[in-house]
Amino acid sequence: MLLFYSKKPFHTRYGGQRDESPSLLDTLYLILYTCYMNKPRIFSGIQPSGNLHLGNYLGAIKNWAKLQDEYDSIFCVVDLHAITVPQDPEALKKKTIEIAKIYLAAGIDPSKCSIFIQSHVSEHTELAWILNTITKIPEMERMTQFKDKSEKLDKSKISMGLFDYPVLMAADIILYDTNLVPVGKDQMQHIELTRDLASRFNNKFGETFILPKGYTTKESANIMGLDDPTKKMSKSAKSEYNYIALTDDEETVRRKIKKAVTDSGSEIVYSDEKPALKNLINIYSLLADKKPEEIEKEYAGKGYAEFKNGLADVTIAFLEPFQKKLKEYDDEKVLEILRAGAEKVRLLATAKMEEVKKKIGFVL
Ligand code: TRP
Repeated sequence: MLLFYSKKPFHTRYGGQRDESPSLLDTLYLILYTCYMNKPRIFSGIQPSGNLHLGNYLGAIKNWAKLQDEYDSIFCVVDLHAITVPQDPEALKKKTIEIAKIYLAAGIDPSKCSIFIQSHVSEHTELAWILNTITKIPEMERMTQFKDKSEKLDKSKISMGLFDYPVLMAADIILYDTNLVPVGKDQMQHIELTRDLASRFNNKFGETFILPKGYTTKESANIMGLDDPTKKMSKSAKSEYNYIALTDDEETVRRKIKKAVTDSGSEIVYSDEKPALKNLINIYSLLADKKPEEIEKEYAGKGYAEFKNGLADVTIAFLEPFQKKLKEYDDEKVLEILRAGAEKVRLLATAKMEEVKKKIGFVL
């Protein structure tokens, strides 16, 4: 029965209707699916703010598309996280859909996994509130990302939301009994906090949450800024010469790559002593699917200018068809997929929240 039923992905059966409540058969399917699938679950998310860039794609999204066959995967557009710093409402809306389109264009397949918008499943904020009550101020004050972000802001502009950001992230993760969280190294401290909060809750109220682990692959090694190879490529960078946006056109790509900082010397070698060049070779290698040694050989005896030209060529060869795909998606259709994704994961979220509420003594 399971095999037969699972041929039809959720989103096609739901037709994207938010208010269509799941049938008994759907609930039964979910229970059987969870028992029989037996695949570890992964959860990850990206904020709909700033410009998504090559670092996001090569360091995260591209790998997610590979993980979806092996893992029970949930990918989220984390709009509730985005508003921890001020956002323009119209831009936020646009970005939210754009991130979802980028997931789809990268090959993330809604019939194999769930893609949804964080604010569509209110259990995230509900669980975050409960976790807040077992979180200590000093452990939040230790969060490096908070310290970095808040240092750049005037104190009067630092919101409680920005401070609380990691607790919401913990809620995102443990709400779904997540086993693994594919994230960059900079997020590992948040995963540690997530484990601490999950185990604290379990100790206080009885086994409820799975303790997740961070998951980084060699490929997800950080892609660094083009203007500063000591810092991660960042969508909130001050200079546009830090990143190549997934929406940059050919002229912009060539201009940015030309301006990318390089190291002293003129040979194309892949080494820790030449961090700027190493970063550019990493990007080349991931885009062209060639090993760094092959690229060194290809450019032996050639200079930076030629190498940069080659890098611009492979970047454009990737971006052009990618952008063409992005343009083909229709906003309404994408929203339908996102709503269906929310319906699917909401079944897990409400079941978990019921358990949580019972354990902490809420009257149901
Ligand atoms: N904090 C993450 C980032 O900026 C985004 C995020 C929010 C996330 N919730 C998550 C990542 C849950 C993984 C799992 O990169």
